[in-house]
Amino acid sequence: MYKATLLTLTFAATLLGDDGYALYQKHCASCHIESLSKTETKKRFASLKAPPMIEVANRLKENIIIADEDEDVKRRVVIAFIKEYVQNPDLLYSMCHPMAIEKFGQMPSLKGKLTPQELEAVAAWVYDHYEGKQFE
Ligand code: HEC
Repeated sequence: MYKATLLTLTFAATLLGDDGYALYQKHCASCHIESLSKTETKKRFASLKAPPMIEVANRLKENIIIADEDEDVKRRVVIAFIKEYVQNPDLLYSMCHPMAIEKFGQMPSLKGKLTPQELEAVAAWVYDHYEGKQFE
């Protein structure tokens, strides 16, 4: 009985929400390392394919400033930006450091590779996972 309940719960969770971290691992991790200190990033810069995801998350949060005091409004706007960027990357809209852009060039589009629900889940993961974590 207990086992059956657990199974049902796991199944319901899978149906309800996509796992943002699993999606990150599948679609982003080959280029964006999850987390790296600034010193390590400098040391390993030559071998990186893209800015570490912690830097992406922090830069977006620093640069996107919302007048509304409701933190959730900012969260929605950053998530919307990430979803849009993943499908239509454009250096004109990139907030990456100019040095990073010069080295990495523009991110290739992942259009069609993730469903709208998966895009939402992975973008929300990028926002939530790094809350309170500094890139230093
Ligand atoms: C093939 C390599 C590659 C993959 C896979 C990839 N990215 Fe990127 N991404 C890059 C590079 C390179 C940049 C930096 C240049 C740029 O901004 O276009 C970048 C930049 C970004 C930016 C813009 C950051 C800013 O400050 O403007 C976001 C957001 C982003 N990636 C999210 C993702 C997410 C989420 C995934 C997975 C769903 C992903 N990327 C998968 C290479 C990749």
